[in-house]
Amino acid sequence: MAVGIFDSGLGGLTVLQAAEARLPEVPFVYLADSAHAPYGVRTADDIFDLTCTAVTRLFEAGCNLVILACNTASAAALRRMQESWVPADKRVLGVFVPLIEALTERQWGDNSPPREVDVKHVALFATPATVASRAFQRELAFRAIGVDVEAQACGGVVDAIEDGDMILAEALVRSHVEALQRKMPEPDAAILGCTHYPLMQTSFQNALGENVRVFSQASLVADSLADYLDRHPDMRGTGARDFLTTGDPRRVSDRATQFLRRQITFQSA
Ligand code: DGL
Repeated sequence: MAVGIFDSGLGGLTVLQAAEARLPEVPFVYLADSAHAPYGVRTADDIFDLTCTAVTRLFEAGCNLVILACNTASAAALRRMQESWVPADKRVLGVFVPLIEALTERQWGDNSPPREVDVKHVALFATPATVASRAFQRELAFRAIGVDVEAQACGGVVDAIEDGDMILAEALVRSHVEALQRKMPEPDAAILGCTHYPLMQTSFQNALGENVRVFSQASLVADSLADYLDRHPDMRGTGARDFLTTGDPRRVSDRATQFLRRQITFQSA
């Protein structure tokens, strides 16, 4: 049994990389639904159906625990999956909560009432579907009061990254940051609320300026996963490490190898 890591495409590799570094003994199966990326411009029903199909494939690959390393799926589908779809002997977790817990300086699983936190003005960069879901604001409201969130839907960035067009991705990041700054001139923190965006972290930081603290998910999710596996040792397995894609394995392998700077070989899902 392995831990499944799912994303619409390559973004979840940022989470996988951190998880491998944190948990070198844990086997992972990564699934990229490249044939259907990007998810961020799809309807919630569509994202739910695609995510369930992909997670079923990871269950078949022997994963009893699957991390949706995709904010769009976490925002648009996870709650519905947990309430009505996930079998009793399986677990599906998202990437939102660890990020919000870090932002609000809470321990994992702290259920105390919401309270004031250090950050007051937060810029959220995410896909159109994640922004439309308002899931981030909802989860934040459970934990913090007095935080002003301005969300910027970053159309086009995921497509550019999936196509390997980093010049376009960088230009889009700059224009989305400018659009955000017109609505919120001085954020104190910025959330990279899409697992593709850490691949552009330097561009976000440069455009925002050095005074803005940029939160990205990979290491936070890896820490939460380590904590979860400590508390649920039955979910910790042994086995192979596999990379699956619904797209063209050669093309996806080339991009993944470029991003992780080591040879990654995808197979057809
Ligand atoms: N990495 C996904 C996320 O975190 C990208 C979504 C997409 O495919 O648009 O939201």
